[in-house]
Amino acid sequence: VRTAAVIPAAGRGVRLGPGTPKALRTLGGTPMLVHAVRAMAASRAVTHIVVVAPPDGPDEVRRLLDAHPLADRTELTVVPGGTTRQESVRLGLAALPDGIDVVLVHDAARPLVPVETVDAVIAAVRGGAPAVVPALPLADTVKQVEPRPQGTPEPVVGTPERALLRAVQTPQGFDLPTLRKAHEVVVEGEGATDDAGLVERLGEGVVLVPGHEEAFKVTRPLDLVLAEAVLARRRA
Ligand code: CTP
Ligand code: MG
Repeated sequence: VRTAAVIPAAGRGVRLGPGTPKALRTLGGTPMLVHAVRAMAASRAVTHIVVVAPPDGPDEVRRLLDAHPLADRTELTVVPGGTTRQESVRLGLAALPDGIDVVLVHDAARPLVPVETVDAVIAAVRGGAPAVVPALPLADTVKQVEPRPQGTPEPVVGTPERALLRAVQTPQGFDLPTLRKAHEVVVEGEGATDDAGLVERLGEGVVLVPGHEEAFKVTRPLDLVLAEAVLARRRA
């Protein structure tokens, strides 16, 4: 079984605020994308990584990755991404070499996922699950609302039972033909916000394995503060 990882890194990072594309911002002096690549390469099973770069910046990303060589012989391909995450992942899948059976899709914005989580996802796919997602229970109670323009109070429609909800992370792991089919069949804009969501629409089973607190997504400025603190703790 050969395993590869696709890392969508083409987003601007609007919620993080103006500046460099999010994946190229540094954590502990090293670009977030480099942390994410190392996190995938840390798994002995991963032999190939496709990085999906901002549409206007694949050359810059290539240079950046060349300046941070990996310790092992994991191969790296860089391709330009698209205007949505779904399109970026599709472009990344198209760039995989032949002979890959299992693919991980991992957000560049989750730079600190531990290798144990990566390996647990891979093991579950290799064990026969077509789609595997790391996930954690929620800390906050969640309300469903009737959306209103910003600044207007929003009526609550209901409160799903928190014990039945999970917050999902990446890397999500897939049998490659299953994920390719999901990206072919499910049209953009149907509201799938993760790759497993596309597979669910095919009617294929998706299973969860335990995620990790340190696999959180860097989305807003406060997340950068937490990420720096996690890195500092690791280096201490
Ligand atoms: N992504 C991508 N292509 C896009 C949009 C997002 O490859 N067109 C990637 C991001 O680079 C990120 C991952 O998908 O690694 C998760 O997306 P998110 O955290 O939403 O990042 P951004 O879209 O960059 O951030 P924002 O939504 O705040 O603009
Ligand atoms: Mg986004």
